[in-house]
Amino acid sequence: MLDLNNSNARIKPMTVEETSLKVTLADYKSAIDLELTELLENSKLDNLAQSQLLQSIQYSVSNGGKRLRPILSLMTAEAIQSKEIPVRDNPALKLALAVELVHCGSLIHDDLPCMDDDDLRRGKSTNHKVFGEAIALLAGDTLLCYPIQLLLEAKPQAEVINEFIEAIKDMIAGQAMDLELPEQQVSMTQMQSMQELKTGALLRASVVLAAKMVGANQVQIDALENYSSKIGLAFQIVDDILDVTASTEQLGKTAAKDIEQNKATYVKFYGLDKAGIMAEELIGQAKAALDVIPNSEKLKALADYVLSRQN
Ligand code: IPE
Ligand code: IPE
Ligand code: MG
Ligand code: MG
Ligand code: MG
Repeated sequence: MLDLNNSNARIKPMTVEETSLKVTLADYKSAIDLELTELLENSKLDNLAQSQLLQSIQYSVSNGGKRLRPILSLMTAEAIQSKEIPVRDNPALKLALAVELVHCGSLIHDDLPCMDDDDLRRGKSTNHKVFGEAIALLAGDTLLCYPIQLLLEAKPQAEVINEFIEAIKDMIAGQAMDLELPEQQVSMTQMQSMQELKTGALLRASVVLAAKMVGANQVQIDALENYSSKIGLAFQIVDDILDVTASTEQLGKTAAKDIEQNKATYVKFYGLDKAGIMAEELIGQAKAALDVIPNSEKLKALADYVLSRQN
């Protein structure tokens, strides 16, 4: 059962070694924010110029967010190419932006009254609270298809395009399960499959597709598959823990939402303590998987951040 008073499972505070990564992450984040702003300013969404729809898309894309998925894509390309690459020149940049746009769209839909019915996202009113449900729905739709065009501009292998679309479909399937499961008797296996789909699929795609786009070999791809599926699960476990342990101000989204809606979460199934231990173990395994990839320190540090993040 859920134990709200148990403090052992609180996410550990950031350590000194992680502080330098925080600076690095801030650099990646601001570069990605800039790219996204420019992209939407000069976008192929021309037919939307001046429209409420474009404003609504810009509102939800430019409103912060940790940018974890695009950072994963960029760092993966750097690890495989064994060098630091300025964000603008990174060969996985279009993939990185495409994945983030899909993610932003998924959050607009996730917050709709017919889904999680949330008022707050990234510290601001949710899209539908500002633009109305109809525009929010259409903004989310646009952000699920425009990124495919964006990815195509990078001329990736057909396999990459196909897997990108599969990841979007998986995310949607996971979201459907997330809504259905509270009504049912759910097994742990079902709950884990749901989490792997709704959150894991896009995180995995951020990493594995970046690797494929820069010509990673099979050993590297296998290692990155392993890494990304482990951090995907850990990421969602931490999301579930933070829902219980963090404040609305800290999260920038409504706290304690999962309990209110009786969601099938790791915390509900395992309790805070065990969920925290599981996340830690997964992060350890994710980092170990990268041992076959030299120059993967940043990806390893990012795995630690997934565990220690405070929002
Ligand atoms: C929130 O994702 C939704 C989940 C998949 C759990 P993030 O925690 O990455 O949200 P932002 O992008 O930083 O706002
Ligand atoms: C959302 O999961 C997952 C996707 C948007 C695909 P949650 O519903 O747990 O995300 P938050 O907690 O609202 O950010
Ligand atoms: Mg949800
Ligand atoms: Mg939600
Ligand atoms: Mg959540």
